[in-house]
Amino acid sequence: MKFFACLATAATLLTVVVPASAQFAKPEDAVKYRQSALSVMGTHFGRLGAMANGKVPFDAKVAADNAQLVAVMARLPWAGFGPGTDKDPRSKAMSEVWTEQAKFQAASEKLVAEADKMAAATKTGNLDALKTSFGATADSCKSCHDTFRNK
Ligand code: HEC
Repeated sequence: MKFFACLATAATLLTVVVPASAQFAKPEDAVKYRQSALSVMGTHFGRLGAMANGKVPFDAKVAADNAQLVAVMARLPWAGFGPGTDKDPRSKAMSEVWTEQAKFQAASEKLVAEADKMAAATKTGNLDALKTSFGATADSCKSCHDTFRNK
């Protein structure tokens, strides 16, 4: 519970309300929730990547808006990794999520920290600041996926 309380405290920085401990009726609801949150986060992150990599023109406002959404979404998926949610056939989470919980939690906190930095960096309206913070955030996605997500 400390983990979720901690996330909720961090979320107040962005003045969004995150349930202190999300309740799900069934394990599959939790899996659906976390995958949906990750998918939405991934969509907004992808838009930033397209700008960071020069595939679409840089637009400071669009970058700041998307980075803000990534920072909000980055807080949500973790409540959906509760006990019993490892057995769902749709889950691509490795069993290490539950056997190495401290490491998984640290990886999620790292993402939140990087996403917050990216949200701050994009407020400067500077493309280089986006590139640097996007790269650091992408590293935090990759390092967690390498350890905790099945291909
Ligand atoms: C703390 C670990 C962790 C971090 C950090 C992380 N992910 Fe993931 N991600 C996972 C796990 C575990 C799954 C598989 C979840 C499942 O299948 O239930 C996943 C799944 C996904 C999915 C697939 C969701 C779906 O539709 O099923 C996307 C998209 C995704 N992550 C994007 C990202 C992006 C983008 C970042 C960084 C901005 C990121 N993730 C950071 C652990 C992480």
